[in-house]
Amino acid sequence: MTSSTLAAPGAGGRRRRLASAAIVLVALGLLTLLYSALAPRGSAASSSDPDVIAGRDLFVKFSCASCHGMNGEGGQRAPSLIGVGPAAVDFQVGTGRMPLQHHSAQAPRKRPVMTEAQIHQLAAYVATLGPGGPPVPDVTGYQNADVAFGGALFRTNCAQCHNFVGAGGELTYGKYAPSLAEATPTQIYEAMVTGPENMPVFGDKTLTPDQKLAIINYVKSVRSQADPGGEGLGRIGPVSETLAGILVGLGLCVGAALWVGSRA
Ligand code: HEC
Ligand code: HEC
Repeated sequence: MTSSTLAAPGAGGRRRRLASAAIVLVALGLLTLLYSALAPRGSAASSSDPDVIAGRDLFVKFSCASCHGMNGEGGQRAPSLIGVGPAAVDFQVGTGRMPLQHHSAQAPRKRPVMTEAQIHQLAAYVATLGPGGPPVPDVTGYQNADVAFGGALFRTNCAQCHNFVGAGGELTYGKYAPSLAEATPTQIYEAMVTGPENMPVFGDKTLTPDQKLAIINYVKSVRSQADPGGEGLGRIGPVSETLAGILVGLGLCVGAALWVGSRA
């Protein structure tokens, strides 16, 4: 063998080694690109969104982390918040249910402990824990939705728990469907899409967004109507009030007849 024949395979090997190194580098580059495209949106710790960073601080400061876990993973004291979405946070914190203070059958509605801006930051943080969950709904224009239709939908979907006029009612095991008198239009929508506690989730296939707005308009208008007069009869509707009138009238007639009869 001559030195030149020795050098040739040596150069070829180096070239081959260089080529495979290049392939490995290109493959690594592609993998990195693929990963950044597919990986879940930047974890909260590495997020540079100021709302998310502020929300993470609030999550610790308002003791959410002490029950739901540092990364919202849940535990013995509270369910996981991964993938619940912004509407659930806005509803739970906006109605004062969270942060929960005492363990009872059900988290009660209270005065919220956070400002709207803080709730927005908290929701932004919780959204980074995992994808999914409904966004905070837009209820503009609900006043234009069909109230009568909303009333009919309310009676079929909500009245069995919340009563015909949204006054609320008892459920089993110390749980209850609360009165809807204080809920804002946004909170009514959020309750439907998040289904807190025993309440079912009403997805867009069960009730379309327009149907939800009609229900909201009904709940808001049944509440703002003043009782037409006399004692409130639970506003079950004009039929029952007429019926009550007839019964009282009949009673008076019977009484009068008996009185006349006893004198004869
Ligand atoms: C003392 C423990 C405790 C604390 C503190 C607490 N939670 Fe909760 N959280 C619970 C429990 C228990 C539930 C489930 C009970 C229920 O839904 O009524 C819950 C439910 C929730 C839900 C509903 C989850 C779903 O699946 O829809 C959200 C959202 C939530 N908490 C957010 C928060 C946030 C945000 C904070 C801090 C501001 C917080 N929680 C503080 C115990 C706690
Ligand atoms: C199976 C019974 C049930 C049905 C049906 C039901 N809900 Fe509820 N709802 C509940 C319970 C229980 C809660 C309380 C959840 C909690 O405190 O975590 C609730 C809470 C709410 C709240 C929050 C009230 C507040 O002021 O904090 C609203 C708003 C609401 N429901 C609206 C509706 C509407 C609208 C419908 C019909 C589309 C409906 N619900 C159907 C059981 C029900």
